[in-house]
Amino acid sequence: MQIRLDILRRKSAIDSPYIQSIDFAYEDKGESVATALTKINRSGTVSPISWECSCLQKKCGACAMVIGGVPRLACDAKLCEFEKAGFVRVEPLKKFPVIADLTVDRSAMYDALREIRLWLEKGLAPNEGSLDTAYEASRCLQCGCCLEVCPNFYVGGRFYGMAAGVPMSKLLAQLDKADRQRLAKEYSRHFYAGCGKSLACKSICPAGIETDALMVNSNAAAVFKRLFG
Ligand code: SF4
Ligand code: SF4
Ligand code: FES
Repeated sequence: MQIRLDILRRKSAIDSPYIQSIDFAYEDKGESVATALTKINRSGTVSPISWECSCLQKKCGACAMVIGGVPRLACDAKLCEFEKAGFVRVEPLKKFPVIADLTVDRSAMYDALREIRLWLEKGLAPNEGSLDTAYEASRCLQCGCCLEVCPNFYVGGRFYGMAAGVPMSKLLAQLDKADRQRLAKEYSRHFYAGCGKSLACKSICPAGIETDALMVNSNAAAVFKRLFG
C-alpha cells in the first residue's frame, strides 16, 4: 500500500512553513503516522523531520499533532484510515508556538500546572468516594489535544483549559474542605470562569476521558459547595 504524507514543515519558529509531500509504502495495516515518520527519518531520504514521541503506545501524549485536520496521537493514527483519500496532511498543533516541523512548545500547559501548584504538601489518605474520579483524572496524557479544539483556550490567557481542569479535578475530589480552599479559588479563576461547556474537549480526548463528569464534580466541589456548602 502507498500513501502520500503532506507534512507542514519549517526549520525553526522564524522560518516560513512549507508542505513537503512524501510518498510512503507500507504493508502492515497497523502502521501509523508515527511509524511512517520514524521510517522516513531513518531512511535519510529527506532532512530529518522534527517531531516528538516516547511510548508509541498511546500512553505519553508526546506525539500529539494535527492529522487529517484533527488533533490526535500520531502513534494512534493508522495510515490505512487514509487509504481511500490516498494522502494525509500532517501538521503541528496550532495553539502552541512551533519549534520546528511538528514539534511545538507546550510549556504553557505545564507552566499552568506549576502555577496552580498541583501537588500536595502532606500525605493524603485514599478516600473511597473519590477513587473513581482520581482514576479517571489520572489517565490524562497532557497531550494538549483538548486545548487545540477548545474555543476558549489560548496561550497567555487566564483560562487554562481542560489539560489543567482534569488534573485539578483529582485533587478537588480528594482534598477535604479545609485543604480545598486554595485550589478551589484557582479552579474558579483559571477554569470555571472561562469554560463555555461546549465539550469539544470530551469528543477529541485520545484517552477518552469523561471530561464532562469530572467538570461536574469539580464545579460542585470548588464552586457550589464553596458558595452554598
Ligand atoms: S484531557 Fe485528554 S486531550 Fe486533554 S490533555 Fe488530557 S488526555 Fe489530552
Ligand atoms: S468544555 Fe469547551 S470551553 Fe470548556 S474546556 Fe472543554 S472545550 Fe474548552
Ligand atoms: S508516542 Fe506516546 S502517545 Fe504517541
